[in-house]
Amino acid sequence: MRTIVEIEAAARKRLAPAHYDFYAGGADAEETLRANEEAFRRRVLVPRVLRGVSERDLSVQLAGSPLSMPVLVSPTAFHRLAHPEGEVATARAVARAGTVLVVSMGATTAIEDIAAAARAAWTENAAEEDAAARAAAKGEAAAREAAAGEAAVRIAADGEAARGEAAMRAAAKGEAAAREAAAGDGQAARGEAAAREAAAGDGQAAKGEAAARDAAAGGGTAGEAAAGGVTAGAVAVSEGVAAGAPALWFQLYPQPDRGFTEAVLRRVERAGVAALVVTVDSAVYGQRERDHRNGFHDLPPHLAVENMRDHTGRVRDIAMPAALSWADVEWLRAATTLPIFLKGILHPADARRAVRAGVSGLVVSNHGGRQLDSAISTVDALPAVASAVDGAIPLILDGGVRCGTDVVKALALGASAVGIGRPVLWGLAAAGSEGVTEVLERLRSEVDRALALCGAVNPAGLTADLVR
Ligand SMILES: Cc1cc2nc3c(=O)[nH]c(=O)nc-3n(C[C@H](O)[C@H](O)[C@H](O)COP(=O)(O)O)c2cc1C
Repeated sequence: MRTIVEIEAAARKRLAPAHYDFYAGGADAEETLRANEEAFRRRVLVPRVLRGVSERDLSVQLAGSPLSMPVLVSPTAFHRLAHPEGEVATARAVARAGTVLVVSMGATTAIEDIAAAARAAWTENAAEEDAAARAAAKGEAAAREAAAGEAAVRIAADGEAARGEAAMRAAAKGEAAAREAAAGDGQAARGEAAAREAAAGDGQAAKGEAAARDAAAGGGTAGEAAAGGVTAGAVAVSEGVAAGAPALWFQLYPQPDRGFTEAVLRRVERAGVAALVVTVDSAVYGQRERDHRNGFHDLPPHLAVENMRDHTGRVRDIAMPAALSWADVEWLRAATTLPIFLKGILHPADARRAVRAGVSGLVVSNHGGRQLDSAISTVDALPAVASAVDGAIPLILDGGVRCGTDVVKALALGASAVGIGRPVLWGLAAAGSEGVTEVLERLRSEVDRALALCGAVNPAGLTADLVR
């Protein structure tokens, strides 16, 4: 499995230079762009040991949306510049990963089409789960053999007897199915069942192992054990669908024309969006030197910012809302029943004000260094914001998150989850939906490993004393 740096290199080769620069670049001298990543490198982990971390759970809930891991996809504009399928490909991968996609107001695909793609992926996952469960109930011998042989050996060879045992118990119960699920995913041509598939893939191993553990403990289906690598991440998604809580959020720049903003709200509500992310760090447009140098100021004519179409069919320009104030936040709260996250909070006094305004959460963000250059890096801003909010509402951090230990550092310092922006664009440009899956599954396995090595079994177990 490729590193995110390698995926970025692959994306760069495929993208037009001006489009690569649009994605990669930041404002002015790009100091904040660099600072976001450097601030993670400056911090080190001080892990705890001997804490019994064999049963780990990465899932979190944010404003009623289930996430299979504490990583969501931050809103980024113009996905169809990266890949012809654009946001549809992204939505499919994010839904399969069981986490939240925040659709940008600058998306190049209509929200209805993005929601349909996400739902289709959720349904597909649910069907895979069902098929796996049915096959498991029949107790397919082939899978049992495969699980007992291949998977157990593979897992045990990993040096962790407990996990090997779990796999063998899972196998002995006759938990088949993964073969089917894995084959359905177009991966496993051979008749060696599921657990092997789950354990074999670098990034999938953690999920497969976890599923095998669940099943061995009697808490999971055979299908989960066998097909863990393919379907474990889907559990939250199918529950989300059942509960009517699709994991799709929408990012809004409130427009000066409140009538149009209301029309957008009604449209995204109808599409089944579960929360709003209101970007408040963009009173005016940041100065992006790379775009000026490249003369990149607009989308090519065959693409449009589809969610800015008004009732006449005309696509409006997104206005940067210079007049935006707390009064608009009050107005938005009255205009929709959706949970509202404010994105772009860095100052603790604004965080306290936001709690008083009754919002559902904050995104500690500097827009990936694309707005105010020289702004504080997000992981440097996080501790003061976390202390100001004091647990009243959840915090999401984005900016410079590139690996599992970055995620663990942000969670330890007070975030409930992190957002990633550019890494998803790199995955999309490099390999479409599968590239996004590669990025998300790599991060999942890295977070799981970092969690275990820090002595924690879930995100809540990460505390500030683990970071220096
Ligand atoms: C190409 C690009 C487009 C973006 N478009 C938006 C947007 O439309 N709305 C928004 O709130 N943030 C936007 N952002 C900011 C991201 O939501 C996020 O804050 C940032 O990318 C996080 O940093 P990272 O890229 O280092 O992960 C954009 C970022 C990039 C790189």
